[in-house]
Amino acid sequence: MKRFCLKTGEIVTIRVAEKSDAKELIGVVNRIGEESEFLTFGRGEFKMTVEQEEAYLEAVSKQSNSVYFVAEINGKIAGLVSFAGGTRPRTEHTGELSVSVLKEYWGMGIGRRLMEELIEWAKGTGIIRKINLRVRKDNERAIRLYKKLGFTESGIISREMQVNGVFYDNLCMGYEIDPD
Ligand SMILES: CC(C)(COP(=O)(O)OP(=O)(O)OC[C@H]1O[C@@H](n2cnc3c(N)ncnc32)[C@H](O)[C@@H]1OP(=O)(O)O)[C@@H](O)C(=O)NCCC(=O)NCCS
Repeated sequence: MKRFCLKTGEIVTIRVAEKSDAKELIGVVNRIGEESEFLTFGRGEFKMTVEQEEAYLEAVSKQSNSVYFVAEINGKIAGLVSFAGGTRPRTEHTGELSVSVLKEYWGMGIGRRLMEELIEWAKGTGIIRKINLRVRKDNERAIRLYKKLGFTESGIISREMQVNGVFYDNLCMGYEIDPD
């Protein structure tokens, strides 16, 4: 668990998500889906039930190569980062990251802190050797954050998203981890 202070004076706690966060997380993820045009789902399109989300969080907590962190402000979830590691021996060293913050908190450093926590965790696992992510090519805010943290571009997947008949390309980015 980590704590830091925003410029507003509010305290942010970064901690591992628990099964009991399931209901709130569904609400937060749906809200971010409404607030941002860059996620793979829009308003009302994140259809996990509380039971499914609970089961997911429980499964993640049992996998040494997967994790789910939340950023909490005044007891409420304001952001999240998750990493799902591969389930087979040949892919367990790698996995995909996803990060999101509620719009009212954008640009305050929460996304960066969540990503730093995830990178520190990944290094500490001794298993993870590569963090992958996909980001819409026009998501400048996210791409700038990833580059600042050392992620490099590895290619484009064309037409990976379609919103109202318009195709969008995704940029693949990655962060390699080598033992010290
Ligand atoms: C992308 C996202 C996670 C970034 O989180 P955040 O808390 O706003 O980011 P931070 O405040 O930590 O900013 C980190 C960096 O982002 C960049 N950034 C912040 N605000 C920015 C802006 N308005 N324009 C461009 N870049 C910006 C800067 O490089 C910043 O570094 P700094 O420390 O020098 O300010 C957040 O905006 C978000 O959830 N967006 C919607 C969902 C999404 O796009 N998720 C990523 C999907 S791949």
